[in-house]
Amino acid sequence: MQFLISFTLNFLIFSSLLSSTYANFADEQRYNICTNAANYTNGSLYSRNINATLFSLTNASLTGFATTTIGLDPDTVFGLVQCRPDVAENDCRACINTASDEITQFCPNKKQAMIGYGNCSLRYSDFRFFSTATNDLIVYYRNTMNVNDSNLFDKQLVSLFQNLSVSAAANDTKFAVGAIGYSLFSDIYGMVQCSRDLPENGCLSCLQAIIGFIPQCCDKKQGARIFTMSCSLRFELYAFFQTSSPPISGMLSPPPPLPVSTDEPSSVPTSSSDGKFYYCILSS
Ligand SMILES: *[C@@H]1O[C@H](CO)[C@@H](O)[C@H](O)[C@H]1NC(C)=O
Ligand SMILES: *[C@@H]1O[C@H](CO)[C@@H](O)[C@H](O)[C@H]1NC(C)=O
Ligand SMILES: *[C@@H]1O[C@H](CO)[C@@H](O)[C@H](O)[C@H]1NC(C)=O
Ligand SMILES: *[C@@H]1O[C@H](CO)[C@@H](O)[C@H](O)[C@H]1NC(C)=O
Ligand SMILES: *[C@@H]1O[C@H](CO)[C@@H](O)[C@H](O)[C@H]1NC(C)=O
Ligand SMILES: *[C@@H]1O[C@H](CO)[C@@H](O)[C@H](O)[C@H]1NC(C)=O
Ligand SMILES: *[C@@H]1O[C@H](CO)[C@@H](O)[C@H](O)[C@H]1NC(C)=O
Ligand SMILES: *[C@@H]1O[C@H](CO)[C@@H](O)[C@H](O)[C@H]1NC(C)=O
Repeated sequence: MQFLISFTLNFLIFSSLLSSTYANFADEQRYNICTNAANYTNGSLYSRNINATLFSLTNASLTGFATTTIGLDPDTVFGLVQCRPDVAENDCRACINTASDEITQFCPNKKQAMIGYGNCSLRYSDFRFFSTATNDLIVYYRNTMNVNDSNLFDKQLVSLFQNLSVSAAANDTKFAVGAIGYSLFSDIYGMVQCSRDLPENGCLSCLQAIIGFIPQCCDKKQGARIFTMSCSLRFELYAFFQTSSPPISGMLSPPPPLPVSTDEPSSVPTSSSDGKFYYCILSS
């Protein structure tokens, strides 16, 4: 089952996402963030500048990160694409091609739009957003399954994300993954990423904001993904990233002492619960 909850704040109204859009797990690999702050009409100069922006960004995508500025004021379009740094070049390119095809479909007639997938994201806007975090809209998915020991889980999760956010912010890739012990059977795996144009403090404060949002959206949940236009995080009780592929930073700590459980001691959490996510978009 999917749930869509929309909260609106002043002039910010969010894309009317149909819950059926998110009816299966494959679709949940995609998120989009659109604002109603400014609209354009089809065929306008702004829409032609969007096309040119998409063409330029797709063309530039081989490096895994690119920005572009197209057109003259007041129809200037500022664009940015980024791939996860551990994604292969051809997968990056394929992802950005998809983003370029789909962004106007998911954010039709919006001057400020972003679409993202597991491997890449694409954003354009009518203002120069480069190097500044845009954090006012938050999108999240969360696993419906609860953890057994939420006190320990929260403690380990906070510790993991504090570590990862400091590492990511300090790194040019603005990306970090890692894991921390939770129980005998499972570690907590985490990933954080900022838009690569952000300075260290901008990345760090963006990540701190969404880490601080976890108790509001995803308390006691076994997994969640949280996105703003400028940064994102994910955690799960299973490895959802390739631990071997560089560049990866983070840690793997030994599990803390486990309270002895007599129930089904051999059962191991599986990743199948990942299919149950709520999708929400709201303002922070
Ligand atoms: C943009 O369009 C939406 C409807 O799609 C409307 O609600 C909103 O007020 C418009 N924004 C502006 C700034 O006109
Ligand atoms: C503009 O074109 C897009 C597709 O490119 C379409 O989804 C949208 O509905 C059109 N908007 C209007 C107002 O016709
Ligand atoms: C922009 O590109 C889309 C898809 O390629 C096309 O349908 C549309 O007509 C183009 N718009 C302009 C103004 O060139
Ligand atoms: C596409 O990329 C090539 C090689 O990087 C570059 O020379 C060319 O100017 C680019 N074209 C556009 C439209 O950005
Ligand atoms: C994302 O990139 C990874 C690593 O390059 C690749 O294995 C995976 O197939 C890509 N995912 C999609 C949906 O293309
Ligand atoms: C993150 O954890 C690793 C391994 O425990 C540690 O070496 C590193 O110093 C920590 N980084 C930060 C920023 O806390
Ligand atoms: C950034 O991350 C890469 C890949 O993990 C690593 O090789 C590099 O040392 C890191 N740089 C810094 C400044 O931490
Ligand atoms: C929760 O505890 C039960 C029973 O001890 C165990 O089977 C299950 O694997 C645990 N789940 C997690 C996510 O640790």
